[in-house]
Amino acid sequence: MNFCVVGLQWGDEGKGKIVDILAEHSDIVVRYNGGANAGHTVVVGESRFALHLLPSGSVRPNTICVIANGVAVDPETLIGEIETLAQKDISLNGRLFISANAHIVLDYHKTEDKLREESLGKNKIGTTVRGIGPCYADKVGRSYAVRMGDLSDLDNLKAQLESIVEYKNKIFTALYNTEPISAGPLFEKCKTYADRLLPFTTDTTELLHKSISEGKSILFEGAQGSLLDLDHGTFPFVTSSNSSSLGMPAGCGVPAKVVDKFFGVIKAYTTRVGAGPFPTEQDNDIGQYIRDQGNEYGTTTGRPRRCGWFDAVAVSYTITIGAIDSIALLHLDTLTGFKEIKICKAYTIDGQQTTFFPANSAKLSQVSAVYDTVPGWDEDISEVSDFDDLPTNAQNYICRVEEMTGRPVTIIGVGPKRKQTIFR
Ligand code: GDP
Ligand code: IMO
Ligand code: MG
Repeated sequence: MNFCVVGLQWGDEGKGKIVDILAEHSDIVVRYNGGANAGHTVVVGESRFALHLLPSGSVRPNTICVIANGVAVDPETLIGEIETLAQKDISLNGRLFISANAHIVLDYHKTEDKLREESLGKNKIGTTVRGIGPCYADKVGRSYAVRMGDLSDLDNLKAQLESIVEYKNKIFTALYNTEPISAGPLFEKCKTYADRLLPFTTDTTELLHKSISEGKSILFEGAQGSLLDLDHGTFPFVTSSNSSSLGMPAGCGVPAKVVDKFFGVIKAYTTRVGAGPFPTEQDNDIGQYIRDQGNEYGTTTGRPRRCGWFDAVAVSYTITIGAIDSIALLHLDTLTGFKEIKICKAYTIDGQQTTFFPANSAKLSQVSAVYDTVPGWDEDISEVSDFDDLPTNAQNYICRVEEMTGRPVTIIGVGPKRKQTIFR
């Protein structure tokens, strides 16, 4: 069986935990979009891994890991992650494959990300400043981009970097009045990247199709959340890749019909990092309670996450565009202690009620959420392993989410650990 796991909200839904669990029965785990802006947490026993580029299957010693063409690879972060796992006696040798077509994030991309955000002032996107937007912009622009495969021809790469630096300096000095950058140090870094990462670099599209024909099971791991999708999310407050399941085929060269089941991951509530509209946001004691209970601070940047009630309008939309079959709902435990819990079932906009999500940010910022209120529960549920042992109100909450989204909730998280999971 082949599965695809994507986030259905604004990221950080708990994809890392779900991918790690499903990876037990997969031969290969594939990252196909985003870059080191992602932070996927996997908890194994007492060890906690925050993975940015390596697929979340990497902590399982026999799982094949693929970083496909659609990923923006930050070589420094990736080398760091490989070393961190090696220190814990988890080797990637012989089982990590990076696409030669994946684009590389270089230092000037991060500089550009930072300068652009600063220049936007109060209109900034609130990016992770990992150089993602500038790297993908260079990919689309074509002429000044560097791909993993370019590391194999250092003479050519040297000339390529010189021409890129000349171009970037014109922009940086004119727009941001910064000191010019030089190609020499960049080239030296690239030589290290070549030494460390070329042994893992290959044609991953060929590898994946060969694996499919051999009957291997593949797990596709989306990064970010579907509401951050460049085309279908809350533009411009989005990331620069297709982070819904629609990004999977282009991001790894495998058609979506190969996937037997699309899992959508949600939290029992909603969070968002960075700027942009958020109709169910609770910028008050309720939001702070969720943040404290759920430890809602960014895995990549440490920023406090904005928190709010579950939004069934938004999730129904991402289920529809992503052809999602079933839901993994995490952080049910975080809602413990609320007397009443709200679920957004519709929006009002210009006096009209709608249940279709307007992905246009200007429009979305004008909607007001229409809520159903359901009773909460007080019992500690973090050790519950059977749905029937959950408090009745917690069971009813899950059933309400199913009714509103039209999809079954087949996995429920009651804590960050592998065993804090209920399967239905
Ligand atoms: P991802 O980006 O979607 O992989 O999610 P993150 O790792 O950025 O954030 C999810 C956080 O929630 C991590 O700290 C996880 O360890 C934690 N987590 C995952 N599932 C649960 C759950 O069911 N309950 C609680 N309390 N924490 C969870
Ligand atoms: P995972 O995979 C949450 C958000 C940023 C910002 C916007 C654009 O861990 O769920 P970018 O750096 O991509 O240009 O930032 O997207 N963002 C995420 N939010 N989880 C993520 O990844 C995110 N990756 C990017 O906060 O609002
Ligand atoms: Mg995350």
